[in-house]
Amino acid sequence: MNVFLIGSGGREHALSWKIAASPLLTKLYAAPGNPGIAQDAEIVTLKIEDHAAVISFCKEKKIDLVVIGPEAPLTAGLADALLAAKIKVFGPQKIPATLEGSKSFTKRLCADHNIPTAAFIETTSRAEARAYIEQHGAPIVLKADGLHAGKGVIVAMDKQEALMAVDQVFAMSSNGSGDAPVVIEEFLEGEEASYFCFVHGEQVLPLASAQDHKRVFDNDQGPNTGGMGAYSPAPVFTNEIEREVLEKIVRPTARALAKAGTPYSGVLYIGLMITKDGPKLIEYNVRFGDPECQVLMPRMKDDVLTLMLATANGELDKSSVRWRDEVAITVVFANKGYPGAYKSGAEIRGIEKANAVEGVTVFHAGTKSEGGKIVSNGGRVLNVTALGKSVTEARERAYKAIALIDWPEGFYRSDIGWRAIAREKQK
Ligand code: AMP
Ligand code: GLY
Repeated sequence: MNVFLIGSGGREHALSWKIAASPLLTKLYAAPGNPGIAQDAEIVTLKIEDHAAVISFCKEKKIDLVVIGPEAPLTAGLADALLAAKIKVFGPQKIPATLEGSKSFTKRLCADHNIPTAAFIETTSRAEARAYIEQHGAPIVLKADGLHAGKGVIVAMDKQEALMAVDQVFAMSSNGSGDAPVVIEEFLEGEEASYFCFVHGEQVLPLASAQDHKRVFDNDQGPNTGGMGAYSPAPVFTNEIEREVLEKIVRPTARALAKAGTPYSGVLYIGLMITKDGPKLIEYNVRFGDPECQVLMPRMKDDVLTLMLATANGELDKSSVRWRDEVAITVVFANKGYPGAYKSGAEIRGIEKANAVEGVTVFHAGTKSEGGKIVSNGGRVLNVTALGKSVTEARERAYKAIALIDWPEGFYRSDIGWRAIAREKQK
């Protein structure tokens, strides 16, 4: 099979690494790619926003499957364009991708199908938003519509902060247009976990769970980021919770979209809060998590390309997937200043040394190749990933490896996996 992978982050390097190991693969192409992905794929210079150019490339190279990594091309309708040109694609079309693209779309779907989620209102009126906040008090959560790279959500811990955030979230939500609704919802208490399923129409193939670390600094301090590290599986996500999530959240969602004539096809990321009243949906994403993908791929025993093809073909009811017993952890090596402003272009040395540590694979995220050197080229730069018998062991390996990387301009959290390690210590 000829495969074309779209994306340029650590998630896509984990995908290219796993796809490159597939017995089905003839040739892998990628765009925009990065130096890590370039080890597995031929990098193609193509504007992925130019759907006609993507289609003509796929025809020229006889691409059998396009794998779309990030959300932006999905919400822009790249999958629709490819399917219309009779090119197979892994990733949902524009309307089902609205699960990620619009908070109010997802909340309405939850309300219509009794899917457990935070109580909410959806409004285009600032006055109504303020009245709801006055009535419900804090903590409370405000969410802008549209894609905001994790920055469209404000968790306000007191009422004044929430009232102050109203204008900000409306400005983000409208993206200038002034008519996109804002969601204001109940603050959920509990432990977060993410869960991943391959979905085609009403067919669901459960994958595995992971736990991300969204805050930039140790002890979950500082602003939210795209994710500073993750591990899989998440111990809080027990088999019982998994059954409940499948029955009350994932299957009703898949059914609703299929019945509406807009079936989902691709990987569904289910962001959950495990509350004392059971699991509740925080959000959907229509792609793998980043950095969650970096811990799922090393744990997957079976061939990911076979499963992606089965997803695209609607053959998930005949599919199964096995996982290694080991756990995986990934630590994000980020550029100093991230998630705010940072400088790119500093040289990074020692990636090979880190890769040589037992159980370790270093995925490239925001890197660039310049005159034979690897330099930083983004906020989240490397994902140092390790397998181990326990989170404790995997974490030791990952931190041993990251210490071998010479990049003074970078920083990382030193406590990735703390919740799971606390649980391991208790045992
Ligand atoms: P989202 O983009 O919807 O995933 O929100 C980003 C982050 O905000 C989540 O990962 C949570 O940490 C937090 N969050 C979102 N909604 C809620 C909620 N209703 N209660 C508590 N925390 C939330
Ligand atoms: N790591 C969170 C996300 O991919 O949305």
